[in-house]
Amino acid sequence: MSNTYGHNSLLSYNKYLRVQDLINLQDCLSDPAHHDELLFITVHQAYELWFKQILHEIDAAISFIVQDRLPAATRAVKRVVDIEKLLLDQIHILESMTPINFLAFRDQLNPASGFQSMQFREIEFSSGLKDERIIREFREDQFACERLQARLDQPSLADVFYQALERRGFDVSHRARAILEILTHFEERYEEFQLSEALMEHDEYFSLWRSHHIKMVERMVGAKRGTGGSEGIGYLKTTLDKKFFPELWEARTYLDTNHGNSGCPFAH
Ligand code: HEM
Repeated sequence: MSNTYGHNSLLSYNKYLRVQDLINLQDCLSDPAHHDELLFITVHQAYELWFKQILHEIDAAISFIVQDRLPAATRAVKRVVDIEKLLLDQIHILESMTPINFLAFRDQLNPASGFQSMQFREIEFSSGLKDERIIREFREDQFACERLQARLDQPSLADVFYQALERRGFDVSHRARAILEILTHFEERYEEFQLSEALMEHDEYFSLWRSHHIKMVERMVGAKRGTGGSEGIGYLKTTLDKKFFPELWEARTYLDTNHGNSGCPFAH
């Protein structure tokens, strides 16, 4: 019997999920094989699978916002945040390796580095943090260059969010002020408020990942240079202040209780 998956026998769990292919994708380079290298590869590959899912949700959110379907967009961004919470915990599994065990196979990774994660950069670009110079780092990799260029050319979450606010009557010539308006009238502008809070959380958890990654790196290799050739934690610290939606953060500074409804049921 043939089915939509092109198999001539009944579909099974292993066939549908291509488990045989999946568990054959972990090529350890250490020789003799080091026990911990499988963990290292598994954690990174799991990240890349979740990055794929995050991009899928960001693309959906962008389309929903363009169609003015803000609640649907909020749901997609909230799913991104749920995944990011998981990704925060996932980084610490690597800390179950002792530093000396990691060093035993680290040299084999040169010059590969998480710095070259194409999908990580795609998430940055599609969220609002576009940096053309990053594409040059991928010049040997045509597949990555094309995907990154496409993401650079497409509107980001930040672009479509502020366009939607403009369609809804906000003055976005000063973005932080438009956000201030949403924060002070969050009950009347609940759809916009819910989406802006979800975007804020996406920014916050991505940034928290950066902090957890640095701490884990420092614990593993101290201030050694990175396998990607950077200064290591010295470089990583320069990325800590990166934000997808800086105006969402900035607006908090302007907020005070004179700005109207505080939301407290007893404040009459
Ligand atoms: C023992 C584990 C790890 C170590 C020692 C480590 C180390 C480093 C270092 C030193 C850098 C700076 C660039 C360079 O290599 O010179 C870096 C960047 C990076 N790593 Fe890791 N890393 C580890 C695990 C991970 C994991 C699990 C991920 C998940 C995908 C990851 C993703 C990244 C990304 C995306 C960057 C670039 C960050 C940016 O430029 O903003 N790393 N890593």
